[in-house]
Amino acid sequence: MLRLEKINITQFKNYKARAFDFSTRIIGIWGNNGLGKTNLLDAIHYLCFTKSYFGRSDAQNVLYGTNGFRIEGNFVINDLPENAVCILRETGKKEFSINHKVYERFSHHIGHFPCVVIAPDDAVLITGESKERRTFLDTLIAQFDKDYLQHLINYQKLLQQRNSSLKVFAETGKRDYSLLDVLDSQMTTPADYIFKKRASFLLAFLPRVIELYHEISQHNEKISLIYESSLHHTSFEALIKIQREKDLLLQRTSAGIHRDEIEIKMDDILFKNTASQGQRKSLLFALKLAEVQVLKEEKGFAPLLLLDDVFEKLDENRIENLLKMVCIENEGQVFITDTNKERLNNHLKNLNLQFQLIGI
Ligand SMILES: Nc1ncnc2c1ncn2[C@@H]1O[C@H](COP(=O)(O)OP(=O)(O)OP(=O)(O)O)[C@@H](O)[C@H]1O
Ligand SMILES: [Mg+2]
Repeated sequence: MLRLEKINITQFKNYKARAFDFSTRIIGIWGNNGLGKTNLLDAIHYLCFTKSYFGRSDAQNVLYGTNGFRIEGNFVINDLPENAVCILRETGKKEFSINHKVYERFSHHIGHFPCVVIAPDDAVLITGESKERRTFLDTLIAQFDKDYLQHLINYQKLLQQRNSSLKVFAETGKRDYSLLDVLDSQMTTPADYIFKKRASFLLAFLPRVIELYHEISQHNEKISLIYESSLHHTSFEALIKIQREKDLLLQRTSAGIHRDEIEIKMDDILFKNTASQGQRKSLLFALKLAEVQVLKEEKGFAPLLLLDDVFEKLDENRIENLLKMVCIENEGQVFITDTNKERLNNHLKNLNLQFQLIGI
């Protein structure tokens, strides 16, 4: 079991100094626009992933006019207390410690407090570029497979090196084939690992997403999710060789696991081109709830679930349905924000579970 019991926030976004105690599993957070509901969820996200959910740099998250921030959380994992502290020093250096021991690498922390967020802009996961879906997939797998995360970091580093080398070759007119040989061979191990892991993981995960989608939408439209990768047909080692001349001309690496895609279709048409807003939202929830289930199975306890503004644009039935799935069928801790105290209170009361309401 994973619970966050207390958070202390100092100079983070609009919070000067504020502490919140969380005494229950279900927590409703209400307040008008711009008061700091999303910022509070992002502070929790920092404690789980050592960074913001919204892709902003650490410096941008410091309270304007001040230097550095500090976020401290008191967690409980399987009845044992854990203390996590994330500090951005005035120098701009970030430190993260667990039980007062500083991590050498932030990546070592990923997965320690598994966490899933559903936020308004997450629709890009469905409508955006393939990178959005790869990031979703990577964030999910990295939380229970440390080797995957390390291979991913290595691959990305090598990919950057390869791409900048290709640029230099074009600029100078000198091609260093032996350097390419080295980079290509170094990329093979992480590429193979990542491809195999994605393929085996998605084999079980994608059907689960479809099942959840049907449960949420209560419709029978035919949707399909398919893992597409050029590595299905050719090994990375062969692929990178075949593409070499093309890459030299394009000055970038044109094939590899960084181009993988999860193709989503409805009635054989690209989902993002045909689905209604409600259908997109249903699929988004299906992906995220499948993530919650997988993390629970892999870690042995349910992840934290941060639901930001999810009630917007959902009819009452769908809200009830969704809340049942995330608060009753899932036994993890859930944080839900809303601008409307009364609506939040009524929905949570209907669940017949203990809950806490926090006004910002
Ligand atoms: N670095 C920062 N320093 C100070 N204030 C900041 C910083 N970053 C963001 N803010 C402020 O935080 C506020 C937004 O907070 P947040 O997004 O948490 O609001 P919210 O309660 O979720 O609102 P909504 O209901 O509209 O989603 C804005 O007023 C913004 O100016
Ligand atoms: Mg918000």
